[in-house]
Amino acid sequence: MAENQNKLGFIGGGRMGEALIKGVLAAGLYRNDQIVVAEPDHRRRQTLHDAYGVLGEADAGPLWDHCSVVILAVKPQVMDLVLKQNRAKIEAGKHLLISIAAGIPLAFIEAALAPCQARVVRVMPNTPALVLAAASALSSGTYAGDDDLKLATSIFAAVGETVVLPESALDAVTGLSGSGPAYVFTFFEALIDAGVKVGLSREVAELLARQTILGSMRLAAESSQTPAELRAMVTSPGGTTIAGLHALERGAFRALIMDAVEAATRRSVELGRG
Ligand SMILES: NC(=O)c1ccc[n+]([C@@H]2O[C@H](COP(=O)([O-])OP(=O)(O)OC[C@H]3O[C@@H](n4cnc5c(N)ncnc54)[C@H](OP(=O)(O)O)[C@@H]3O)[C@@H](O)[C@H]2O)c1
Repeated sequence: MAENQNKLGFIGGGRMGEALIKGVLAAGLYRNDQIVVAEPDHRRRQTLHDAYGVLGEADAGPLWDHCSVVILAVKPQVMDLVLKQNRAKIEAGKHLLISIAAGIPLAFIEAALAPCQARVVRVMPNTPALVLAAASALSSGTYAGDDDLKLATSIFAAVGETVVLPESALDAVTGLSGSGPAYVFTFFEALIDAGVKVGLSREVAELLARQTILGSMRLAAESSQTPAELRAMVTSPGGTTIAGLHALERGAFRALIMDAVEAATRRSVELGRG
């Protein structure tokens, strides 16, 4: 490995790690020879090397000599172990750590690395990162500075939209955008079944449902109108859409969505307490 400390390191080369590698390469933030992935599974290392030309290591040890930014992209269950294994190598002045582990508080990471005053940024991305369309919320740790947050934001902006929030908001973020793709896929499935119910083939119903969701979101993203205004555009007096919307209101559709986000937020709080 060349002596260059400005490399980007990943501990964990799973789905999220791969999405981020893809994003930062596509955005030109790092070259592939500036990215090092510590991943115990050699097939996974080879896959990432073949697909993106990034360097692989079986162990995270060498990363700390060459990387100024290290993304902790392992499952939350192994975070404690990973921090213990690496704490001796981490230097506050040299390394910025970015954790994407769901439910692991900044204070947990900082305490595990004390007395080193590690610069840590915590991020909650979501699975559309896999197609560079994530919604990510970032929170700064006690010792991370403005430049650290800016750098972390640029990395996550490479895989979608970003927002900076206090850590106390991350449970709500988990309930909304973290779990959100599952709500949308459930709605997608329901729309397909509904199409079948009114006599369309499953194939046709799936095509129409997918394009309707995709197209509506593109319209919302590209339009300056509010969701309520866009909805009014397709809701003519006494027409078909208002009849459909009436059924949704009767079924307390909005209250159900609020309940879902609230339940997921509560669960995130519970899991964070360990
Ligand atoms: N997927 C999401 O929607 C999402 C959203 C927000 C946040 N996150 C967070 O992102 C993190 C990663 O999720 P993921 O979906 O990418 O998980 P994943 O696909 O399971 O990836 C984790 C990778 O880390 C590797 N690993 C395990 N122990 C390691 C160690 N000691 N050193 C280096 N690598 C190690 C695993 O290898 P083995 O398989 O060999 O154990 C695996 O390849 C999680 O903490 C999750 O909470 C995920």
